[in-house]
Formats: sequence, structure tokens, C-alpha cells
Amino acid sequence: MNAGKTRFTAILIGAAIAMPSMVAAHGDVTPQAMDTTALPDIGEEWLEENPWRSSEEDSWATAIEIGASGYNSNCARCHGLGAVSGGLAPDLRYLEAEIDGDEWYLERFQLGMTQNGITKMPAFGELLGQKAAWAIRTYLETRPDDGALDDHVGALNEIKDQLIANADMVAGGSKIDADFADQSATMKAKLAEIAATVETGSGAPMADSVASRAAMALDGSTGSLKNAVDILKVGLSVAE
Ligand code: HEC
Repeated sequence: MNAGKTRFTAILIGAAIAMPSMVAAHGDVTPQAMDTTALPDIGEEWLEENPWRSSEEDSWATAIEIGASGYNSNCARCHGLGAVSGGLAPDLRYLEAEIDGDEWYLERFQLGMTQNGITKMPAFGELLGQKAAWAIRTYLETRPDDGALDDHVGALNEIKDQLIANADMVAGGSKIDADFADQSATMKAKLAEIAATVETGSGAPMADSVASRAAMALDGSTGSLKNAVDILKVGLSVAE
């Protein structure tokens, strides 16, 4: 009575053995919706080039933030956590950040990849739309290259210690001296200088690094000191 069922189970086990990575690692491949309302409208028609490539763009940091979360829920299970591939699928940090790379990226994003009837990568284009596509692209291409921060850890730790000293002064209620704003601007400039030298794997002009984030956080206000310190503490503990 159970012959049919038994055979079916045997086929399933066979399939599981033949495609262990598909079964174990890929799991549910239904695209997860992304909230992209914080990004400006870029129309219906698909663009040819990433509109948020330049860090001068107001939307650069927002695109990275939305892209990071969209990447984690839709792509990381195959392409790796933090965009560092574990070998199941290509490492997307190295796709060139220029129009040819964009074209190839969009083709895969829109159509996915099916081989011999097996979906190796689902299609995301229609379901997620192009704001989601470019947000994920911006996140991917701004990943710092492996080891790109190594040379800067010392300098960043020094800046962090100076910022902590200033934050302590503020917290202790000391009168903030007149050149506080100057000092803050100097440290912001130092951070921005370091940020500009951190290389991406994709060749994108600016990496989204602990240095760029801390530089952006510092806005001259006393409250922003703590934010910058927190960013440096977390980022540097990961880098060490
Ligand atoms: C179910 C696993 C899976 C998921 C989920 C997945 N991919 Fe892929 N992806 C693959 C595989 C496998 C390939 C290699 C296909 C081939 O052989 O060309 C690939 C290739 C690509 C490529 C081409 C890379 C190159 O160097 O040729 C891009 C771009 C890409 N994926 C982007 C994405 C993005 C963005 C997401 C999330 C929105 C995503 N993928 C989700 C499995 C996946």
C-alpha cells in the first residue's frame, strides 16, 4: 500500500544527495520584499548604470543601508554573509563598478539563472524592482576589499581614543573649550582622508567603511561624538 510513497521518498533522498547545497543552503528562495521608499524615484524604465555610485550622491548611504538589508534577506544564503562568498556562488564584491559590470549584474538580478531545468538563482527583477536592485548593487560594490583597512587600524584607534577623551569631557560636564568644534572638524577631515584611501573590490570610488561611517557621523555636535566612537569601536573590533 505504501510502495508509491516509499519510492517517492527514495527519489527525494536521491535528489538531496545529488544536490546537497541546493537543499541545505538555499532553502526558501522566495524573494523577500524590500522597503525602498527612502530612496528617490528613478522611474519605471530600467537604468543602465547605478544611479547611486558616487558618494557625493545624497542617497549613497541610504542605498547602502537598504541594500545591506535586502542583500541579507535575498542573496546572502547563496552569495555569503557580508558579501564574502563561501564558494556556493560567485563573490559579488568583485563585479566591476562600471557600466559593463552593471549590465551583467542586472541581467542576473532580473532573470536569475536556470540550468538544465534547475533554478540555480531565482529571478528578482519584477518582484523587487530597480530601486531594490541598485540599492543591493551599491551595498555590494562599496564593500572594502579584504585587508583594505589593515594599514589604517593604528590611525583609526588614535582617532577613537581622542574622540573618547572628548566625549568623556562632555559627559563629565567640563566646559567645552572654544576650539572643540575645530578639533571635531579636524578629526572628521582625518577620517574622511582615511575613508578615501580604503579600496573596494569592485573599483567603486568610495568604500563603505568604518572610516567613512565615523566621518559621516561626526557633525560638530557633542552628541555625535558618541555615535562616532561607537562606530569606531564596533568596526575596529571586527577588523582586529
Ligand atoms: C539560490 C541561490 C542564489 C540566490 C538566492 C542568489 N544567487 Fe546570485 N547566483 C547564484 C549562482 C549559483 C550564480 C552563478 C550562476 C552562473 O553559473 O553563472 C549566481 C550569479 C550571480 C551573479 C553573476 C555573478 C558573476 O560573477 O558572474 C550576480 C550579479 C548575482 N548572482 C546576484 C545576485 C543577487 C543580487 C542576489 C540577491 C538579490 C542573488 N544573486 C541571489 C545563486 C544565487
